[in-house]
Amino acid sequence: MDSQAAGRAKGGGDLSGVEHRGTVDRWRAVAPGRVNLIGEHTDYNGLPVLPIAIDRAVRVEFRVTDDPEVRLRSPVARFAPLTFQLKRPIEAAEQGDWSNYVRAAARGLMEHGVELRRGIEGTVSGDVPIASGLSSSSALVVASALALLKANGVGVGSGGASISRLDLAALLARAERFVGLEGGGMDQAACLHGVEGHALRIEFEPLRVTPVAVPDGWRWVVASSLVRAEKSAGAREAYNARARECREAVAGVGGGYRDLVAEPDLDGVVRRARGVLSPVLFRRFRHVVSEGRRVGLAEEAMRNGDMGRFGKLMVQSHESLRDDYEVSTADLDEMVGIALKAGAAGARLTGAGFGGCVVTLCEARTVAPVMDALAARFYAPRLEGSPGRDVMFAVKAGGGAGVG
Ligand code: GLA
Repeated sequence: MDSQAAGRAKGGGDLSGVEHRGTVDRWRAVAPGRVNLIGEHTDYNGLPVLPIAIDRAVRVEFRVTDDPEVRLRSPVARFAPLTFQLKRPIEAAEQGDWSNYVRAAARGLMEHGVELRRGIEGTVSGDVPIASGLSSSSALVVASALALLKANGVGVGSGGASISRLDLAALLARAERFVGLEGGGMDQAACLHGVEGHALRIEFEPLRVTPVAVPDGWRWVVASSLVRAEKSAGAREAYNARARECREAVAGVGGGYRDLVAEPDLDGVVRRARGVLSPVLFRRFRHVVSEGRRVGLAEEAMRNGDMGRFGKLMVQSHESLRDDYEVSTADLDEMVGIALKAGAAGARLTGAGFGGCVVTLCEARTVAPVMDALAARFYAPRLEGSPGRDVMFAVKAGGGAGVG
């Protein structure tokens, strides 16, 4: 592993096993999930986001094979062993098939001009909850890409490497659209650029990542609404419909989102939009521009150590996602209410919505009361026994993906 990757992977919490695996051709690619702190449904509109890479990851342990074929297994029973040839064209498997994320990585690299003469054989595992808005799928895409690059002797990173992390993030974001979701580039960029103890301001077109230190003494708690939000299935249509509506809305108002958010009189922009858009398009538009503005304010609050203000912006973000963007659910709303009442400084849905998780911002001393309140008031009526470690957990801002 290059030293940069080693530093990143170490930051990824439980990634201490990232090392050369003994025999010459056994390796491990590790790619973290992410939690978006603020800036939801802004990335595909060209506006910034502020996620963290988390200390939970997808791992691909592999051996390099001489033939150009991918053979991967998962210990999860519903993920059948996958095999495909690294030869064009790489066709999609059935919708919802997990192999599509690995295929997307291979396709993206090949389209970028990387020759994949050698394949990989191995096992995929990890502790990023699936279909929870924590980007387990992008982590799988990134881990697969890093494994294929390693197998074919292509270095990643700065300093003479063949492909930069930014270029890899951008090409994998495009490649993941292969699964049919018109996603932005947040997930792949966060996964590849995580920095321990830092949030990541990610800007698009061109892609740029700026780490912002999370002030000491603050914690993030992630809690699942127990409703899966499958990017490759049900949530996909609703997500793509939002992306379409955003394009129509900005065409109706005129100009681009970035310029509109930068206008000093944002209320004036919103008034203008109300005059020309249908009620639905107006609500989508208002979410995007107000969320775009909130990301800048939240970053400033974090830099100033004003996490009380950061928390308030998270709550505004949730309300906007609920009322204007209409991607929340009654359960997510209820969880946000419970967390705030129990003393969280902020709480909101994270990821695309339609189920998935909430993220709450807590001072160290409020972590336990917030988790206790969610356990008693949200989970107790819905689960037998207490919520497991895939249902509710504290996360740390961790390091980015690596292979070694
Ligand atoms: C999904 C997409 C991201 C982003 C979020 C919503 O996670 O993959 O690109 O659009 O939804 O913010």
